[in-house]
Amino acid sequence: MKWVTITVNRNGILKRYKVPEGITVLEALEYINSNYGEGILYRASCRSGQCGSCAMTINNEPRLACKTKVEDGMLVEPLEGFNVVKDLIVDRSPYYKKTQNLQNYLVWEGDEDIPKITPKDIKEFKGVRNCIECLSCLSKCPARKFSHYPGPTFMRQLARFAFDPRDKGDREKTAYFENLHNCTTCAKCVEVCPKEIDIVHRAIERLRELAFKKGYYLKNHLTVRENILKGCRSVKKEGISLLEEIGEEYTVDREKMRVALFTGCLVDYRLHHVGRSAIRVLNAHGISVVIPKDQVCCGSPLLRTGQKDLAEKLKRKNLQVFNSLDVDGVVTVCAGCGSTLKRDYREREFQVMDITEVLDRIPIEYKPLDVKVTYHDPCHLRRGQGIYLEPRRILKRIPKLKLVEMEIADQCCGAGGGVRSGRPEVAYAIGRRKARMIYKTGADYVVTVCPFCEYHIGDTLKRFIDTGDNLEVMNIVSLLDRVV
Ligand code: SF4
Ligand code: SF4
Ligand code: FES
Repeated sequence: MKWVTITVNRNGILKRYKVPEGITVLEALEYINSNYGEGILYRASCRSGQCGSCAMTINNEPRLACKTKVEDGMLVEPLEGFNVVKDLIVDRSPYYKKTQNLQNYLVWEGDEDIPKITPKDIKEFKGVRNCIECLSCLSKCPARKFSHYPGPTFMRQLARFAFDPRDKGDREKTAYFENLHNCTTCAKCVEVCPKEIDIVHRAIERLRELAFKKGYYLKNHLTVRENILKGCRSVKKEGISLLEEIGEEYTVDREKMRVALFTGCLVDYRLHHVGRSAIRVLNAHGISVVIPKDQVCCGSPLLRTGQKDLAEKLKRKNLQVFNSLDVDGVVTVCAGCGSTLKRDYREREFQVMDITEVLDRIPIEYKPLDVKVTYHDPCHLRRGQGIYLEPRRILKRIPKLKLVEMEIADQCCGAGGGVRSGRPEVAYAIGRRKARMIYKTGADYVVTVCPFCEYHIGDTLKRFIDTGDNLEVMNIVSLLDRVV
């Protein structure tokens, strides 16, 4: 028989045990108790991924012990984000207390007949139904950790009823007053859910849409709307825009690819240098760039805050602009724009690529740069588009550059989902932890591929760490511009 060694965190003491290879963590715990005379406490019932009781933190991520195979060096701990009762048992009562007043049943008042439910209605809310209450999503939710937010599955419960025509429970109102707008749409809850429930798109954004229609919204989100209504950009114009400043086309000889650049609001109105660097770096990789001047905001700030009506208009305009181009693809330098174009522009006739996908595909030799760099994974790039290897591969190709990973590179910076604009105190509370992680790496630069992350991380570093000029945050193209 082959053996592996796993470590169990028992009330703060790490104990190592040898267990047979190929068994589940749950079987390993049983094995330890019966063969080593230990009495490790844990919860389990169904043993088949149905009851949710065996969720624990395994190698820093929440997993079901009955569905996870042991690996050598594995660390098994109680579910993060809850008080530990003993060993692997955590106190779930705050969650149950919070949900007991939720009216977890259909609410119907008045004399009218209850409407009949149709297959279309069922399709609407089916996706949020099969939760097993493992609480994995709660354990990793940054909004729950750093603010008064009851957590993803709480919002999922509300969404179950909110779109059911037989319910009159004003679920969007409950969601609004339970801080629906504290969610950064980081999608960590989606990533860890063993039932693959897409809480962000099926619960959070839909509840926000319903709440917005009924007048429950944050004042600052209306400012974003006004900006878009005035100038088709989510931020106010300050001086000349990048699109007004630059040419329409930057071609190269012996072209390997031809792409259109989607600038996004912040690059067009604030971070012109990112747009210019993107063009130079693409050209250096042998890629010609066209820049359509009538492109507008992708609609992400509206979609994330429940303002779908206006987002549709922006989408139609962008589709008209980009569908007619003769290019190999549309390139984004913003994680939020990229994930919106890929996911929400279903009618598009063009391929969307994050700039790191393109640059990684056509590698070139870079000049050496003797610096220490850490990389921050934007949520909408890592979880929104599944891109995290590409930027790291690109950075590793720069001679002399040292890439150091921070403690949790893909932890949300706090800016997304309209939280920086609508709930800045929550964005700062989440961002503070990220700033500390970055600072601890001792890096000269923190690199990312999202202007919103760039802005917010820069701001939190100044606010909480006071790094002066010693630690600079930048888009990956700004760094690459120095080595092409
Ligand atoms: S998307 Fe992120 S912040 Fe929002 S509920 Fe899920 S884990 Fe929490
Ligand atoms: S939504 Fe998913 S992760 Fe959250 S409690 Fe339900 S099953 Fe578990
Ligand atoms: S024991 Fe029921 S989900 Fe694991």
